[in-house]
Amino acid sequence: MAETSEKAGKSLWLRWLLARNRVLASPAFQRFAMRNILFRRTARFHANSMFAVITGFVQTKALTAAVDAGVIRRLAQGPASAAELAEAAGLEPAAMQRLLGAARAIDLVELAAPYLWVLGQRGAALSTNQGALAMIEHHKIFYDDLADPIAMLKGGRGQGKLAAFWTYAPAAGQGQPAASDEASWQGSGDGAVAPYSALMAASQPMVAEQVLDAHDFGRHRRLMDVGGGHGAFLAAVAQRHPGLELALFDLPAVVAGAAPKLAAAGLAKVALNGGSFRDDPLPPGADAISLVRICHDHDDGVVRALLKKAHAALPPGGTLLIAEPMAGTPGAEVMGDAYFGLYLWAMGSGRPRTVADYVALLGEAGFAGAREVPTALPMVTRLVVARR
Ligand SMILES: C[S@@+](CC[C@H](N)C(=O)[O-])C[C@H]1O[C@@H](n2cnc3c(N)ncnc32)[C@H](O)[C@@H]1O
Repeated sequence: MAETSEKAGKSLWLRWLLARNRVLASPAFQRFAMRNILFRRTARFHANSMFAVITGFVQTKALTAAVDAGVIRRLAQGPASAAELAEAAGLEPAAMQRLLGAARAIDLVELAAPYLWVLGQRGAALSTNQGALAMIEHHKIFYDDLADPIAMLKGGRGQGKLAAFWTYAPAAGQGQPAASDEASWQGSGDGAVAPYSALMAASQPMVAEQVLDAHDFGRHRRLMDVGGGHGAFLAAVAQRHPGLELALFDLPAVVAGAAPKLAAAGLAKVALNGGSFRDDPLPPGADAISLVRICHDHDDGVVRALLKKAHAALPPGGTLLIAEPMAGTPGAEVMGDAYFGLYLWAMGSGRPRTVADYVALLGEAGFAGAREVPTALPMVTRLVVARR
Protein backbone atom coordinates (compact mmCIF):
# COMPACT_ATOMS: atom_id res chain seq x y z
CA MET A 1 0.00 0.00 0.00
CA ALA A 2 2.78 2.41 1.02
CA GLU A 3 4.63 1.58 -2.17
CA THR A 4 1.49 2.27 -4.23
CA SER A 5 0.97 5.66 -2.54
CA GLU A 6 4.61 6.53 -3.15
CA LYS A 7 4.37 5.71 -6.85
CA ALA A 8 1.07 7.54 -7.19
CA GLY A 9 2.68 10.54 -5.46
CA LYS A 10 4.82 11.08 -8.51
CA SER A 11 2.05 10.86 -11.09
CA LEU A 12 1.13 13.97 -13.02
CA TRP A 13 -2.58 13.17 -12.58
CA LEU A 14 -2.30 13.13 -8.78
CA ARG A 15 -0.37 16.39 -8.75
CA TRP A 16 -3.04 17.99 -10.94
CA LEU A 17 -5.84 16.74 -8.62
CA LEU A 18 -4.10 18.07 -5.52
CA ALA A 19 -3.45 21.43 -7.14
CA ARG A 20 -7.09 21.66 -8.31
CA ASN A 21 -8.37 20.81 -4.83
CA ARG A 22 -6.13 23.43 -3.21
CA VAL A 23 -7.67 26.06 -5.48
CA LEU A 24 -11.26 24.85 -4.94
CA ALA A 25 -10.81 24.74 -1.16
CA SER A 26 -9.61 28.34 -1.04
CA PRO A 27 -12.33 30.73 0.26
CA ALA A 28 -10.69 33.51 -1.77
CA PHE A 29 -11.12 31.49 -4.99
CA GLN A 30 -14.72 30.64 -4.07
CA ARG A 31 -15.48 34.35 -3.58
CA PHE A 32 -13.76 35.21 -6.84
CA ALA A 33 -15.70 32.50 -8.76
CA MET A 34 -19.06 33.73 -7.40
CA ARG A 35 -18.32 37.30 -8.49
CA ASN A 36 -16.65 36.60 -11.82
CA ILE A 37 -19.07 36.74 -14.72
CA LEU A 38 -17.36 33.82 -16.49
CA PHE A 39 -17.29 31.45 -13.49
CA ARG A 40 -20.50 32.49 -11.75
CA ARG A 41 -22.87 30.01 -13.44
CA THR A 42 -20.60 27.03 -12.79
CA ALA A 43 -19.93 28.14 -9.22
CA ARG A 44 -23.64 28.55 -8.54
CA PHE A 45 -24.40 25.14 -10.08
CA HIS A 46 -21.81 23.41 -7.87
CA ALA A 47 -22.94 25.29 -4.76
CA ASN A 48 -26.58 24.36 -5.40
CA SER A 49 -25.84 20.71 -6.10
CA MET A 50 -23.66 20.43 -2.98
CA PHE A 51 -26.45 21.98 -0.95
CA ALA A 52 -28.90 19.44 -2.43
CA VAL A 53 -26.60 16.67 -1.17
CA ILE A 54 -26.34 18.27 2.27
CA THR A 55 -30.12 18.65 2.57
CA GLY A 56 -31.01 15.36 0.84
CA PHE A 57 -32.18 13.81 4.11
CA VAL A 58 -34.69 16.62 4.68
CA GLN A 59 -36.03 16.29 1.14
CA THR A 60 -36.50 12.54 1.62
CA LYS A 61 -38.31 13.11 4.90
CA ALA A 62 -40.58 15.78 3.37
CA LEU A 63 -41.41 13.33 0.57
CA THR A 64 -42.16 10.52 3.03
CA ALA A 65 -44.32 12.82 5.13
CA ALA A 66 -46.29 14.03 2.08
CA VAL A 67 -46.98 10.40 1.10
CA ASP A 68 -47.76 9.22 4.64
CA ALA A 69 -50.04 12.20 5.32
CA GLY A 70 -52.06 11.21 2.24
CA VAL A 71 -51.29 14.50 0.44
CA ILE A 72 -50.21 12.80 -2.81
CA ARG A 73 -53.15 10.37 -2.77
CA ARG A 74 -55.72 13.10 -1.98
CA LEU A 75 -54.44 15.60 -4.55
CA ALA A 76 -54.37 12.86 -7.21
CA GLN A 77 -58.18 12.92 -6.87
CA GLY A 78 -58.44 16.70 -7.31
CA PRO A 79 -57.51 20.08 -5.80
CA ALA A 80 -57.84 20.60 -2.04
CA SER A 81 -57.26 23.32 0.51
CA ALA A 82 -54.63 23.06 3.24
CA ALA A 83 -57.44 22.83 5.81
CA GLU A 84 -58.97 19.82 4.04
CA LEU A 85 -55.58 18.14 3.74
CA ALA A 86 -54.83 18.87 7.40
CA GLU A 87 -58.09 17.37 8.58
CA ALA A 88 -57.65 14.21 6.49
CA ALA A 89 -54.12 13.75 7.84
CA GLY A 90 -55.00 14.52 11.45
CA LEU A 91 -52.53 17.44 11.51
CA GLU A 92 -52.91 20.97 12.82
CA PRO A 93 -53.45 23.43 9.90
CA ALA A 94 -50.16 25.18 10.71
CA ALA A 95 -48.30 21.87 10.55
CA MET A 96 -49.90 21.00 7.20
CA GLN A 97 -49.00 24.46 5.86
CA ARG A 98 -45.39 23.81 6.82
CA LEU A 99 -45.42 20.38 5.17
CA LEU A 100 -47.02 21.79 2.01
CA GLY A 101 -44.34 24.47 1.86
CA ALA A 102 -41.65 21.80 2.01
CA ALA A 103 -43.46 19.60 -0.54
CA ARG A 104 -43.85 22.59 -2.85
CA ALA A 105 -40.12 23.30 -2.69
CA ILE A 106 -39.43 19.85 -4.10
CA ASP A 107 -42.19 20.10 -6.71
CA LEU A 108 -44.52 17.55 -5.17
CA VAL A 109 -47.37 20.07 -4.89
CA GLU A 110 -48.13 23.57 -6.12
CA LEU A 111 -50.70 26.29 -5.61
CA ALA A 112 -53.27 26.57 -8.42
CA ALA A 113 -54.94 29.53 -6.73
CA PRO A 114 -54.61 31.09 -3.28
CA TYR A 115 -55.43 28.32 -0.79
CA LEU A 116 -55.97 25.69 -3.52
CA TRP A 117 -53.35 22.98 -3.79
CA VAL A 118 -52.77 20.60 -6.70
CA LEU A 119 -49.99 18.11 -7.44
CA GLY A 120 -46.71 19.51 -8.74
CA GLN A 121 -44.93 17.92 -11.70
CA ARG A 122 -43.01 15.42 -9.57
CA GLY A 123 -46.04 14.74 -7.41
CA ALA A 124 -48.19 14.00 -10.49
CA ALA A 125 -45.62 11.54 -11.88
CA LEU A 126 -45.24 9.90 -8.47
CA SER A 127 -48.98 9.55 -7.83
CA THR A 128 -49.38 6.74 -10.39
CA ASN A 129 -46.00 5.08 -9.86
CA GLN A 130 -46.82 2.20 -7.50
CA GLY A 131 -43.20 1.00 -7.60
CA ALA A 132 -41.81 4.33 -6.42
CA LEU A 133 -44.51 4.59 -3.72
CA ALA A 134 -43.69 1.07 -2.50
CA MET A 135 -39.98 1.97 -2.43
CA ILE A 136 -40.65 5.13 -0.38
CA GLU A 137 -42.36 2.95 2.23
CA HIS A 138 -39.66 0.26 2.05
CA HIS A 139 -36.84 2.79 2.46
CA LYS A 140 -37.90 3.43 6.04
CA ILE A 141 -36.09 0.29 7.17
CA PHE A 142 -33.01 1.06 5.04
CA TYR A 143 -32.82 4.56 6.50
CA ASP A 144 -33.12 3.11 10.01
CA ASP A 145 -30.05 1.00 9.21
CA LEU A 146 -28.34 4.14 7.91
CA ALA A 147 -29.11 6.25 10.99
CA ASP A 148 -25.47 5.85 12.08
CA PRO A 149 -23.63 5.06 8.83
CA ILE A 150 -20.20 4.70 10.42
CA ALA A 151 -21.59 2.21 12.95
CA MET A 152 -23.21 0.35 10.04
CA LEU A 153 -19.91 0.17 8.16
CA LYS A 154 -17.93 -0.78 11.27
CA GLY A 155 -20.47 -3.46 12.20
CA GLY A 156 -19.97 -5.32 8.95
CA ARG A 157 -22.51 -6.30 6.33
CA GLY A 158 -26.07 -7.38 7.04
CA GLN A 159 -26.51 -6.32 10.65
CA GLY A 160 -29.77 -4.39 10.48
CA LYS A 161 -33.42 -4.44 9.46
CA LEU A 162 -32.77 -4.72 5.73
CA ALA A 163 -30.97 -8.03 6.19
CA ALA A 164 -34.03 -9.43 7.97
CA PHE A 165 -36.31 -8.24 5.14
CA TRP A 166 -34.34 -10.02 2.38
CA THR A 167 -34.56 -13.50 3.86
CA TYR A 168 -32.28 -15.03 1.20
CA ALA A 169 -29.41 -12.74 2.21
CA PRO A 170 -26.98 -14.48 4.55
CA ALA A 171 -27.52 -13.80 8.24
CA ALA A 172 -24.79 -11.51 9.64
CA GLY A 173 -21.48 -13.31 9.95
CA GLN A 174 -22.72 -16.47 8.21
CA GLY A 175 -22.38 -17.72 4.69
CA GLN A 176 -25.39 -18.03 2.42
CA PRO A 177 -27.84 -20.58 3.82
CA ALA A 178 -28.45 -23.72 1.82
CA ALA A 179 -31.97 -23.81 0.36
CA SER A 180 -32.22 -27.48 1.20
CA ASP A 181 -31.42 -26.76 4.84
CA GLU A 182 -34.76 -25.36 5.95
CA ALA A 183 -33.58 -24.50 9.46
CA SER A 184 -30.72 -22.33 8.27
CA TRP A 185 -32.98 -19.97 6.32
CA GLN A 186 -34.20 -17.03 8.36
CA GLY A 187 -37.52 -18.20 7.03
CA SER A 188 -38.51 -19.96 3.88
CA GLY A 189 -42.30 -19.94 4.12
CA ASP A 190 -44.54 -17.52 2.28
CA GLY A 191 -44.53 -15.14 5.26
CA ALA A 192 -40.77 -14.72 4.90
CA VAL A 193 -40.70 -14.12 1.16
CA ALA A 194 -44.08 -12.45 0.52
CA PRO A 195 -43.07 -8.90 1.59
CA TYR A 196 -40.01 -8.73 -0.66
CA SER A 197 -41.83 -10.49 -3.51
CA ALA A 198 -44.65 -7.91 -3.33
CA LEU A 199 -42.15 -5.04 -3.30
CA MET A 200 -40.36 -6.47 -6.33
CA ALA A 201 -43.61 -7.04 -8.22
CA ALA A 202 -44.68 -3.42 -7.55
CA SER A 203 -41.40 -1.98 -8.81
CA GLN A 204 -40.95 -4.43 -11.73
CA PRO A 205 -43.01 -2.58 -14.41
CA MET A 206 -40.47 0.29 -14.65
CA VAL A 207 -37.67 -2.25 -15.15
CA ALA A 208 -39.56 -4.51 -17.57
CA GLU A 209 -40.44 -1.58 -19.81
CA GLN A 210 -36.76 -0.65 -20.17
CA VAL A 211 -35.65 -4.22 -20.90
CA LEU A 212 -38.47 -4.96 -23.34
CA ASP A 213 -37.84 -1.75 -25.26
CA ALA A 214 -34.12 -2.56 -25.51
CA HIS A 215 -34.20 -6.26 -26.45
CA ASP A 216 -36.46 -8.11 -28.90
CA PHE A 217 -37.64 -11.21 -27.02
CA GLY A 218 -39.59 -12.19 -30.13
CA ARG A 219 -36.44 -13.81 -31.50
CA HIS A 220 -36.51 -16.45 -28.72
CA ARG A 221 -38.58 -19.63 -28.41
CA ARG A 222 -38.57 -20.10 -24.62
CA LEU A 223 -37.50 -17.67 -21.89
CA MET A 224 -36.64 -18.72 -18.33
CA ASP A 225 -36.58 -15.86 -15.80
CA VAL A 226 -34.25 -16.92 -12.99
CA GLY A 227 -35.05 -15.28 -9.64
CA GLY A 228 -38.26 -14.16 -11.32
CA GLY A 229 -40.18 -13.61 -8.07
CA HIS A 230 -43.95 -13.62 -8.52
CA GLY A 231 -43.61 -13.48 -12.31
CA ALA A 232 -44.13 -9.75 -12.89
CA PHE A 233 -41.34 -9.60 -15.48
CA LEU A 234 -42.70 -12.66 -17.31
CA ALA A 235 -46.19 -11.15 -17.30
CA ALA A 236 -44.82 -8.02 -18.98
CA VAL A 237 -42.93 -10.17 -21.53
CA ALA A 238 -46.10 -12.17 -22.25
CA GLN A 239 -48.04 -9.00 -23.01
CA ARG A 240 -45.57 -8.00 -25.71
CA HIS A 241 -44.77 -11.50 -26.99
CA PRO A 242 -47.79 -13.75 -26.43
CA GLY A 243 -46.26 -16.57 -28.49
CA LEU A 244 -43.15 -16.97 -26.32
CA GLU A 245 -42.95 -20.03 -24.01
CA LEU A 246 -42.19 -18.90 -20.45
CA ALA A 247 -40.59 -20.51 -17.41
CA LEU A 248 -39.94 -19.19 -13.90
CA PHE A 249 -37.19 -20.28 -11.52
CA ASP A 250 -37.09 -19.07 -7.91
CA LEU A 251 -36.97 -20.36 -4.36
CA PRO A 252 -39.79 -22.88 -3.70
CA ALA A 253 -41.71 -20.56 -1.34
CA VAL A 254 -41.59 -17.73 -3.89
CA VAL A 255 -42.72 -19.98 -6.74
CA ALA A 256 -45.64 -21.18 -4.58
CA GLY A 257 -46.72 -17.52 -4.23
CA ALA A 258 -46.24 -16.91 -7.97
CA ALA A 259 -48.58 -19.71 -9.10
CA PRO A 260 -51.93 -18.08 -8.16
CA LYS A 261 -50.77 -14.66 -9.41
CA LEU A 262 -49.78 -16.05 -12.80
CA ALA A 263 -53.01 -18.04 -13.03
CA ALA A 264 -55.02 -14.88 -12.23
CA ALA A 265 -53.15 -13.06 -15.00
CA GLY A 266 -54.09 -15.80 -17.49
CA LEU A 267 -50.56 -17.19 -17.48
CA ALA A 268 -51.18 -20.61 -15.97
CA LYS A 269 -49.03 -22.10 -18.73
CA VAL A 270 -45.79 -20.61 -17.33
CA ALA A 271 -43.56 -23.54 -16.29
CA LEU A 272 -42.76 -23.22 -12.57
CA ASN A 273 -39.45 -24.42 -11.17
CA GLY A 274 -38.75 -24.18 -7.45
CA GLY A 275 -35.13 -24.48 -6.36
CA SER A 276 -32.02 -22.61 -5.37
CA PHE A 277 -29.54 -21.50 -8.00
CA ARG A 278 -26.84 -21.89 -5.36
CA ASP A 279 -27.52 -25.57 -4.75
CA ASP A 280 -29.37 -26.85 -7.80
CA PRO A 281 -28.63 -26.86 -11.52
CA LEU A 282 -30.88 -24.67 -13.66
CA PRO A 283 -33.40 -26.65 -15.70
CA PRO A 284 -32.59 -26.90 -19.43
CA GLY A 285 -35.02 -26.20 -22.27
CA ALA A 286 -34.96 -22.39 -22.58
CA ASP A 287 -33.00 -20.67 -25.36
CA ALA A 288 -32.94 -17.43 -23.33
CA ILE A 289 -32.33 -16.90 -19.61
CA SER A 290 -32.90 -13.58 -17.85
CA LEU A 291 -31.41 -12.43 -14.55
CA VAL A 292 -33.34 -9.30 -13.62
CA ARG A 293 -32.09 -7.54 -10.46
CA ILE A 294 -30.43 -10.78 -9.35
CA CYS A 295 -26.64 -10.62 -9.69
CA HIS A 296 -26.02 -7.44 -7.67
CA ASP A 297 -27.56 -9.17 -4.62
CA HIS A 298 -24.81 -11.79 -4.52
CA ASP A 299 -21.09 -11.98 -3.93
CA ASP A 300 -18.74 -12.80 -6.78
CA GLY A 301 -18.47 -16.52 -5.96
CA VAL A 302 -22.24 -17.00 -6.13
CA VAL A 303 -22.50 -15.01 -9.37
CA ARG A 304 -19.65 -16.95 -11.00
CA ALA A 305 -21.36 -20.25 -10.15
CA LEU A 306 -24.77 -18.94 -11.29
CA LEU A 307 -23.44 -17.81 -14.67
CA LYS A 308 -21.80 -21.21 -15.17
CA LYS A 309 -25.13 -22.90 -14.39
CA ALA A 310 -26.89 -20.62 -16.88
CA HIS A 311 -24.25 -21.53 -19.47
CA ALA A 312 -24.82 -25.24 -18.82
CA ALA A 313 -28.61 -24.87 -19.10
CA LEU A 314 -28.60 -22.97 -22.39
CA PRO A 315 -28.18 -24.58 -25.83
CA PRO A 316 -25.35 -23.36 -28.13
CA GLY A 317 -26.39 -19.96 -29.48
CA GLY A 318 -28.67 -19.38 -26.46
CA THR A 319 -28.91 -15.91 -24.91
CA LEU A 320 -28.27 -14.69 -21.38
CA LEU A 321 -29.55 -11.30 -20.23
CA ILE A 322 -28.45 -9.46 -17.09
CA ALA A 323 -30.59 -6.43 -16.20
CA GLU A 324 -30.09 -4.23 -13.15
CA PRO A 325 -28.83 -0.76 -12.19
CA MET A 326 -25.05 -0.82 -12.44
CA ALA A 327 -22.06 0.98 -10.96
CA GLY A 328 -20.32 3.68 -12.98
CA THR A 329 -23.45 4.66 -14.93
CA PRO A 330 -22.77 8.12 -16.39
CA GLY A 331 -25.24 10.60 -14.94
CA ALA A 332 -26.59 8.00 -12.48
CA GLU A 333 -23.49 7.28 -10.39
CA VAL A 334 -25.55 7.93 -7.27
CA MET A 335 -27.89 5.03 -8.05
CA GLY A 336 -25.19 2.39 -8.57
CA ASP A 337 -22.30 3.42 -6.39
CA ALA A 338 -23.97 5.35 -3.56
CA TYR A 339 -27.48 3.88 -3.27
CA PHE A 340 -26.84 0.24 -4.15
CA GLY A 341 -23.36 0.30 -2.64
CA LEU A 342 -24.76 1.11 0.80
CA TYR A 343 -28.07 -0.74 0.32
CA LEU A 344 -26.35 -4.05 -0.45
CA TRP A 345 -23.94 -3.53 2.44
CA ALA A 346 -26.91 -3.15 4.79
CA MET A 347 -28.64 -6.12 3.18
CA GLY A 348 -25.60 -8.31 3.77
CA SER A 349 -24.44 -9.54 0.37
CA GLY A 350 -23.58 -8.51 -3.16
CA ARG A 351 -22.15 -5.34 -4.64
CA PRO A 352 -22.97 -2.99 -7.51
CA ARG A 353 -20.93 -4.02 -10.58
CA THR A 354 -20.00 -2.16 -13.73
CA VAL A 355 -20.84 -3.32 -17.25
CA ALA A 356 -17.15 -4.21 -17.61
CA ASP A 357 -17.34 -6.41 -14.47
CA TYR A 358 -20.24 -8.36 -16.01
CA VAL A 359 -18.58 -8.65 -19.41
CA ALA A 360 -15.54 -10.17 -17.63
CA LEU A 361 -17.64 -12.54 -15.47
CA LEU A 362 -19.64 -13.69 -18.51
CA GLY A 363 -16.43 -14.34 -20.45
CA GLU A 364 -15.10 -16.41 -17.53
CA ALA A 365 -18.32 -18.46 -17.51
CA GLY A 366 -17.84 -19.29 -21.20
CA PHE A 367 -20.22 -16.77 -22.81
CA ALA A 368 -19.24 -15.00 -26.02
CA GLY A 369 -19.84 -11.51 -27.32
CA ALA A 370 -21.10 -10.04 -24.04
CA ARG A 371 -22.10 -6.44 -24.68
CA GLU A 372 -24.28 -3.72 -23.31
CA VAL A 373 -27.57 -3.01 -25.06
CA PRO A 374 -28.50 0.59 -24.17
CA THR A 375 -31.73 1.23 -22.29
CA ALA A 376 -33.61 4.53 -22.31
CA LEU A 377 -33.26 5.01 -18.52
CA PRO A 378 -29.96 3.43 -17.41
CA MET A 379 -30.65 4.72 -13.88
CA VAL A 380 -33.49 2.17 -13.64
CA THR A 381 -31.63 -0.64 -15.34
CA ARG A 382 -28.79 -1.37 -17.72
CA LEU A 383 -28.78 -4.47 -19.86
CA VAL A 384 -25.91 -6.81 -20.72
CA VAL A 385 -26.58 -9.53 -23.29
CA ALA A 386 -24.31 -12.50 -24.06
CA ARG A 387 -24.38 -15.59 -26.26
CA ARG A 388 -23.73 -19.17 -25.19
C1 LIG B 1 -34.24 -8.63 -5.88
S1 LIG B 1 -35.38 -9.91 -6.18
C2 LIG B 1 -35.70 -9.69 -7.92
C3 LIG B 1 -36.99 -10.31 -8.36
C4 LIG B 1 -37.33 -10.07 -9.84
N1 LIG B 1 -36.34 -10.63 -10.71
C5 LIG B 1 -37.51 -8.61 -10.09
O1 LIG B 1 -36.65 -7.95 -10.66
O2 LIG B 1 -38.56 -8.08 -9.69
C6 LIG B 1 -34.35 -11.34 -6.15
C7 LIG B 1 -35.07 -12.64 -6.44
O3 LIG B 1 -34.10 -13.70 -6.44
C8 LIG B 1 -34.61 -14.79 -5.72
N2 LIG B 1 -33.52 -15.60 -5.16
C9 LIG B 1 -32.62 -15.21 -4.23
N3 LIG B 1 -31.77 -16.23 -3.95
C10 LIG B 1 -32.15 -17.25 -4.73
C11 LIG B 1 -31.67 -18.58 -4.92
N4 LIG B 1 -30.63 -19.01 -4.21
N5 LIG B 1 -32.28 -19.36 -5.83
C12 LIG B 1 -33.36 -18.91 -6.55
N6 LIG B 1 -33.85 -17.66 -6.42
C13 LIG B 1 -33.27 -16.85 -5.53
C14 LIG B 1 -35.47 -14.16 -4.64
O4 LIG B 1 -36.40 -15.07 -4.08
C15 LIG B 1 -36.10 -13.01 -5.39
O5 LIG B 1 -37.31 -13.38 -6.00
